[in-house]
Amino acid sequence: MKRLLAPLALLLGNIGLAAADNPIIQTIYTADPAPYVFNDTLYLVADHDEDTANTFFEMKEWRLYASTDVVNWQDYGTIASLKDTFKWSVDRAWAPQLVQGGAMAIGVATSKTITGPYKDALGKALISNNNIDPTVWVDDDGQAYLYIANSGFFYARLNPDMISISGGVVSQSKPNGLTEGPWLYKRNGKYYMVAASNGIPESITYTISTGGPTGPWNGKSGTIMGPTGSSFTNHAGIVDYKNHSLFFYHNGGLPGGGGYKRSICIEDFTYASDGSIPSIKPTTAGAAQIGSLNPYVQTSATTIAFSAGVETQKYNEGFMNVYNTNANGAYIKVKGVDFGSAGATSLSVRVASSGSGKLTASLGSRTGTVIATCTIAGTGGSQKWTTVSCPVTGAKGKNDLYWTFSGSYQFAWWQFTASNATTS
Ligand SMILES: *[C@@H]1O[C@H](CO)[C@@H](O)[C@H](O)[C@H]1NC(C)=O
Ligand SMILES: *[C@@H]1O[C@H](CO)[C@@H](O)[C@H](O)[C@H]1NC(C)=O
Ligand SMILES: *[C@@H]1O[C@H](CO)[C@@H](O)[C@H](O)[C@H]1NC(C)=O
Repeated sequence: MKRLLAPLALLLGNIGLAAADNPIIQTIYTADPAPYVFNDTLYLVADHDEDTANTFFEMKEWRLYASTDVVNWQDYGTIASLKDTFKWSVDRAWAPQLVQGGAMAIGVATSKTITGPYKDALGKALISNNNIDPTVWVDDDGQAYLYIANSGFFYARLNPDMISISGGVVSQSKPNGLTEGPWLYKRNGKYYMVAASNGIPESITYTISTGGPTGPWNGKSGTIMGPTGSSFTNHAGIVDYKNHSLFFYHNGGLPGGGGYKRSICIEDFTYASDGSIPSIKPTTAGAAQIGSLNPYVQTSATTIAFSAGVETQKYNEGFMNVYNTNANGAYIKVKGVDFGSAGATSLSVRVASSGSGKLTASLGSRTGTVIATCTIAGTGGSQKWTTVSCPVTGAKGKNDLYWTFSGSYQFAWWQFTASNATTS
């Protein structure tokens, strides 16, 4: 079985609102996006800026999110951390990336399933030369390449075990103003090196190789995105998913956000016919939804297009659940939910509470048509779960669905029943 590898970050070891959809994660601050398509799903591995960070980057763990429509993102929680995964490290859970391979200071963690948990593969650093931001690309012939950058620009060939290198760490001259955050990929036979460039504040640039995956990096190049405002760093990830080309980056766009409290955003774009990447503007609308969300299958309450006043926590029956930190005004927006022409008749929600409250589902906006109101009684604890059923009226067609919280409780998943459903 192929293992999933998370070459993770510079680890400092003993060596030395509204209804917008960007930023895409509102429950915590996230940065350094690394998108990865696996099993028809778009996964996003990110690092996590702590709320306490004010004068430096404070990051202790890596988080995983997944989407099948680019706008609604489910939270899979922490997949690796300094404390539990890289015990030799003491600080700096910085830019991660996830790839699938045969078997990065830069550490490597592996897992048999994409959702983790990931385990330290080496018990020590793979490379420790004071450079950061690993990017890994597995070429069509199976050879994997790892790049890192900051004080310099370096690559290494990974062995088939994906946790050791051959031929040493090779220094190259930096392409096109590169500062850090390299992102290597191949598309239509061309190798792209995308990077945070031009010093502080950072822009995102790209350069196409005139050779193979190890350059030389002197082909077509350009600036994709200029500085994004309150975050002086940026870090890009580019991926094609369901025939849409997606550009991931970070800014300081959430309330309280800034250089050390960043948030991941997505824009979609179209390559020019010669493979060049256009200039992309940051927006609050984000990328267009691909398809719609089916409300008749069980959906994690952490599947969110936009939210305010809610956070996520470990769920003892699954991955993560939502809870409200704000008794008034906490809400979740789920975008493009297709109830079909027949519509829904009822709703099941999995909830837990040591208090009580009310959960309201509405269409179009928080103050839109109310389709269901569920009364949440105390269950005797924040991880003692019960399924509450509530009647639904007026839920038809494709709409944005809003969950509005009042009171205080935990919310794990939801599922509507279609009016044409047969009862058994
Ligand atoms: C792929 O996705 C399907 C449907 O969500 C899931 O049942 C299956 O376990 C996934 N396979 C892997 C290898 O993750
Ligand atoms: C992507 O585009 C190709 C070529 O136009 C097409 O064959 C394929 O079905 C499309 N895939 C999806 C998921 O839309
Ligand atoms: C019931 O309605 C849903 C949503 O419109 C539709 O996807 C499904 O095919 C329908 N099922 C039957 C048995 O008609």
